[in-house]
Amino acid sequence: MEKMWAGRFQKALDAAADDFNASIRVDQRMYRQDIAGSLAHAAMLVSTHILTEEEGLQIQTGLQAILEELDNGSLQVDAGAEDIHMFVEAELTRRLGDVGKKLHTGRSRNDQVAVDVRMYLRDEAIEVKRLLLGLIGAVLGKAREYKNAVMPGYTHLQRAQPVTFGHHLSAYCMMFMRDFDRLSDAVRRMNVCPLGSAALAGTTYPIDRAETAAALGFDTYCLNSLDGVSDRDFCVELAAALSLLMTHLSRFSEEIILWSSWEFKFIELDDAYTTGSSIMPQKKNPDMAELVRGKTGRVYGDLITLLTMLKGLPLAYNKDMQEDKEAIFDAFDTVKACVGVFTPMVSTLTALPERMRAAAGRGFINATDLADYLVGRGLPFRSAYKIVGQIVHACIAAGETLETLPLAQYKTFSPLFDETLYAAIDLDACVEKRNSAGGTGKESVAAELAAIEAFLKDNETA
Ligand code: ARG
Repeated sequence: MEKMWAGRFQKALDAAADDFNASIRVDQRMYRQDIAGSLAHAAMLVSTHILTEEEGLQIQTGLQAILEELDNGSLQVDAGAEDIHMFVEAELTRRLGDVGKKLHTGRSRNDQVAVDVRMYLRDEAIEVKRLLLGLIGAVLGKAREYKNAVMPGYTHLQRAQPVTFGHHLSAYCMMFMRDFDRLSDAVRRMNVCPLGSAALAGTTYPIDRAETAAALGFDTYCLNSLDGVSDRDFCVELAAALSLLMTHLSRFSEEIILWSSWEFKFIELDDAYTTGSSIMPQKKNPDMAELVRGKTGRVYGDLITLLTMLKGLPLAYNKDMQEDKEAIFDAFDTVKACVGVFTPMVSTLTALPERMRAAAGRGFINATDLADYLVGRGLPFRSAYKIVGQIVHACIAAGETLETLPLAQYKTFSPLFDETLYAAIDLDACVEKRNSAGGTGKESVAAELAAIEAFLKDNETA
């Protein structure tokens, strides 16, 4: 196909260079946004009397037909076209002749691609937010189911203090809620229309930028045409938000992998989300969680690609920016696939509360509570802490735990001990006493679960 810009040249583009230059394979997925942008632009050209009503109508009908045919598959995107913008315009011109050639009046591919990407990514962000609500709902469901299941809480992956599985799971809801907000925030900032910036300097035609911005669902239009065509901050912001979301999924995956090992066996994943081994008949592997953990690096890579792409670019548009789409589309594709499989994996998992409790019962996890017991009887915390350290040491040497060490032994460490100490270090009591706001106690967790529920309600209706 002859290039639109062939007039300026004496010979055709080299075939390999042509292929290298093209972005159609990547950007054809934006055909709906491209056509929507053109429809709004054409309508504005009519209302500002730059085109006649008749020309506008022909363009509108032509673009709508192209959209319909692309949607139903009767028209295929020409793989030899340079990009989706060139393809749609060429197809329109093939159908309408000279009228088709008027569509690009007062516009450039530079503002066209900028507006298409923003619209495409706006929808993608909304879709990820929808998926996140599903994920938060699934995690909340499990947190409710296991709100009384006592498990070891860890620091340094060493048993630290008892928590409930419900509390532990809710921590992930907090992360995903922030991810949701970060996406909303990025969308709010990106929802500014660059159309009308033209190539870089605006246009001599009396265009109405407010009209196209409103028609395409933007809050306003950008105030600087150079910035309008060269800003890809929104791609970086979205990739950063998606990277952090992947970080959270990856940490969660790591725990799911640990918890489903025989060493922990805190949970059992549903067969539908695990795989077997080609040689070891006993294996049930958490492949989905491992893949989510593994794919996290792709999204980080996409973020770095975007930052690096932009860092040396002079204003305004540079062809380097064509690389934005492959990176940010990959980030969205990866996140959607990951959340898509993660949510049902979570909602079908089963916890094994007796295994969790057993693990919590064997690691001196209630040592802080024993120290608090002595503090309650008047000892300064540091002194109590030291005595309990000596008791733990003695228990380990004697093969005892804090629960099994006889009272007579306790009394050799401090006269403040009596038989009430055993109730004070009971695992359920340890959890129950931690009702400080945000703590693992029953009342605190109930408030936390209610807040997550309220977040879901607010955002499902929004
Ligand atoms: N395919 C290009 C891109 O994705 C569209 C903009 C091209 N503009 C230009 N002046 N070559 O960035």
